[in-house]
Amino acid sequence: MKCVDDFRLKFGTRELVPIMIGGMGVDISSAELALEAARLGGVGHISDAMVQTVSDRRFNTKFTRDKLQFYKYNVANSDKSAVQFNLAQLAEATRLHVGSTMDAKRGDGMIFINCMEKLTMNAARDTLRVRLASALDAGIDGITLSAGLHLGSFALIEDHPRFRDAKLGIIVSSLRALQLFLRKNARLNRAPDYIVVEGPLAGGHLGFGLNEWQNFDLATIVAEIVAWLKAEELDIPVIAAGGIFTGTDAVGFLENGAAAVQVATRFTVTTECGLPEKVRQHYFTADEADVEVNGVSPTGYPMRMLKSSPAIGDGIRPNCEAYGYLLDGSGNCAYINSYNREVAANPDARKVKVMDKTCLCTQMHNFDCWTCGHYVYRLKDTTHRLPDGSYQALSAEHVFRDYQFSTDGKIALPNRLVAAV
Ligand SMILES: Cc1cc2nc3c(=O)[nH]c(=O)nc-3n(C[C@H](O)[C@H](O)[C@H](O)COP(=O)(O)O)c2cc1C
Repeated sequence: MKCVDDFRLKFGTRELVPIMIGGMGVDISSAELALEAARLGGVGHISDAMVQTVSDRRFNTKFTRDKLQFYKYNVANSDKSAVQFNLAQLAEATRLHVGSTMDAKRGDGMIFINCMEKLTMNAARDTLRVRLASALDAGIDGITLSAGLHLGSFALIEDHPRFRDAKLGIIVSSLRALQLFLRKNARLNRAPDYIVVEGPLAGGHLGFGLNEWQNFDLATIVAEIVAWLKAEELDIPVIAAGGIFTGTDAVGFLENGAAAVQVATRFTVTTECGLPEKVRQHYFTADEADVEVNGVSPTGYPMRMLKSSPAIGDGIRPNCEAYGYLLDGSGNCAYINSYNREVAANPDARKVKVMDKTCLCTQMHNFDCWTCGHYVYRLKDTTHRLPDGSYQALSAEHVFRDYQFSTDGKIALPNRLVAAV
């Protein structure tokens, strides 16, 4: 019986273990996690979501505080059009995050950065160009374009000296989206180096409608895309993502034309991931009934999360002067509208409840939006229960190697730290 290690992801002459740890903003797929994937010969992702606050936490910069200070006069104003990112600071934050990660890289694997198009930052093109170019400047091995169609994103960096040498990939959830991307980018004569096909069971934002994700399945979409690429004689590695929980699940995709798998949820409970230990325990204890796909993200994309996420219903004042990563270019964000509506309807309330949208910047920054893949409720089966009722944390190496070597649908448990119950 085959295991994942019997396969290799090939980029030209370079061969990697075909396991990619997916991008998880905001700093959930931390540098430490990505570095482990690279050390073990696979691909790790860092994320550039809210990179200025990530830089503040990691490098003691003051980008967020300074931005808030600069726009403080606007905090009570619901028109956020004045709130812009300083592009030089954005570049600096990206270079710090990417540069320090790449300096620490060991092993034969690679480190990519996940860039979400939906982080429109009140000036979508200008900010995205800076994010992409600065990541390339700082030596990132590759960029994965996600959460959006990214139809013009390659063109933003076509003059960059690393445009053809860095790996550039896209995430799609349908053949149609892929075809559209390739058509729009044909004039650049630069195809993506890999295509992540993300199905409906993934964590984070979903590329399916709120009430239609149940009608799709990853294996069918992957098969369709693999067949189409073959018919078009396009040799681009396809990477399957979403709900791949065991090495055996992964082998199923590798045997059916995928070049690698992208996985994330199983790494949310590793000590290297950015989630605080307390939050990791919520992921461990989750049952199937605790998970929902909802519409609270202001991006307009459905998102899967634990129903107990503190983000749901939390009517905090929009924090765009400090953050503002989802402002659409005219100073709007769907959360601002929902918040204003509730404030107008409840003029005497000290704090309102906002159920239909959430202030995603603040909530992700505070690790209060507990987004997860569908199979989060199986995490409890991947470790030991400790005498105090909590679950034993896992190392990224343990989970990575379990994906790499396990067979027969088995999940290897870690060595016990203390006597279990
Ligand atoms: C906590 C969490 C955060 C995520 N954040 C992002 C993100 O910022 N950008 C993105 O493209 N995908 C994001 N994803 C999706 C993953 O990168 C990955 O493609 C998917 O979750 C794989 O499915 P699995 O979690 O079932 O293994 C996130 C997933 C999780 C679990």
